[in-house]
Amino acid sequence: MKRLFYIDSCLRYGSNTKKIADALIDRLSERYEVETVKLSDYDFPVVKNGILNDRNNGIVPEEYVNIARKIAAADRLVISAPFWDMSFPSALKVFLENMSLFNVTFASDEKKCYGLCKAEKVLYVTTRGMNINTGDDMEQATPYIKAIGKLWGLGELNVVSAQNMDYSTEEQKAEKVNNAIEEGLKLCEEF
Ligand SMILES: Cc1cc2nc3c(=O)[nH]c(=O)nc-3n(C[C@H](O)[C@H](O)[C@H](O)COP(=O)(O)O)c2cc1C
Repeated sequence: MKRLFYIDSCLRYGSNTKKIADALIDRLSERYEVETVKLSDYDFPVVKNGILNDRNNGIVPEEYVNIARKIAAADRLVISAPFWDMSFPSALKVFLENMSLFNVTFASDEKKCYGLCKAEKVLYVTTRGMNINTGDDMEQATPYIKAIGKLWGLGELNVVSAQNMDYSTEEQKAEKVNNAIEEGLKLCEEF
């Protein structure tokens, strides 16, 4: 069975992003062996001097290398994350920095960096409070996920989103979640 790595960055109880992502992961688990890292269960450290010094001396926590190797080897990558401060939560950025490991997720020759990840497709699931669509100037999550995907050698990025959540009634929110699930399930057929 092919392997899918799922980065669950939903950090709030009752997360609407998680409701959408759960339904899609459930469907994808029929075709993929799913491994999940749930960021709310971790406290990945901010990468700063101590970690950089360790890296320069070839020291990286084995647990992190193992997760990064799984990301690199996965056939598909799924990221779920709510839209926070015009991007995604810093917990996801910190996680990605900890996974951006030389000779694991990317490498370099004398001239440029190149990716070592295998996944030809990435799915990013999000919900936004304001009425901001994917690709809007104020939407700074997708551009970053695309960029790190290029560094790591990841393939096509697919986005499933719902917006204007914070200005919707409970009924409207439920409808938006259901519409996103429906759209996502269609996408999953080709994913
Ligand atoms: C800390 C925080 C920051 C947020 N920042 C934004 C923002 O910059 N723009 C926006 O449209 N919504 C923002 N929101 C609203 C969320 O994007 C929205 O409620 C989303 O649906 C939450 O997803 P969840 O239900 O999966 O937690 C923010 C919410 C929180 C809790």
